[in-house]
Amino acid sequence: MNIPKHIAIIMDGNGRWAKARGLPRVMGHAQGVEAVKKIVKSCVKIGVKHLTLYAFSNENWSRPDHEVKALFKLLEDFIDKEFKLFHENKIKFNIIGERQRIQKDVLVKMENTEKDTQDYNNLTLNIALSYGARQEILNAAKILAEDVLNAKIGLSEIDEKIFSSKLYTKGQPDPELLIRTSGEMRVSNFLLWQISYTEFYVTETLWPDFDDKELNKAIEEYNKRDRRFGGR
Ligand code: IPE
Ligand code: IPE
Ligand code: MG
Repeated sequence: MNIPKHIAIIMDGNGRWAKARGLPRVMGHAQGVEAVKKIVKSCVKIGVKHLTLYAFSNENWSRPDHEVKALFKLLEDFIDKEFKLFHENKIKFNIIGERQRIQKDVLVKMENTEKDTQDYNNLTLNIALSYGARQEILNAAKILAEDVLNAKIGLSEIDEKIFSSKLYTKGQPDPELLIRTSGEMRVSNFLLWQISYTEFYVTETLWPDFDDKELNKAIEEYNKRDRRFGGR
């Protein structure tokens, strides 16, 4: 089986998972973290090199304050507790998103983990946090505009490769496979530039129930796809 080098996942359905059990939404998020741990381990095991997980979108800032707080607390705990997971499996931890919106002390913790794991290359784990693809693209456009203004680069030199190098995912291959759990057929402002030729896989399974069997199913389905890239 052909294992994608880069898998991206829109981890959706935590709220519905909790609701179905009469639990508060936050319990769904907590169970979602358990699924994250399992999937990270599975990806290491099968040899995926880049995993990008959509954990919190720019639009998610509009959720109730207590839910936002609980989500960031879960993330903080995940980083604190999974130190061993990162080091034992040589996982490079990387945050993609608008860092300046993240609470200072949580951000410092995350950036320390990035530093501690920067030399690992078994799996790059990108956590999309306070992330929006349009903002990411705008940001890249602004950086390049500034470089042109400062005569660091000529306008005609700007190509796809240079543009990509200004995105949060710089230096990483585009995902071959994008998975979305809980059935929604939309991208919700995720990786718009990077997914131009990515294969989509949508499952009805809610994120807290997503496991290595489900991951396997997605990869099997991906292997059946005929990727033509417009070429024939
Ligand atoms: C995904 O689950 C997690 C985040 C967006 C943070 P949701 O919280 O969106 O769960 P549903 O979609 O309401 O079921
Ligand atoms: C997408 O899920 C964002 C994350 C999984 C972090 P949402 O639940 O926020 O997306 P919509 O509202 O269904 O588009
Ligand atoms: Mg949702």
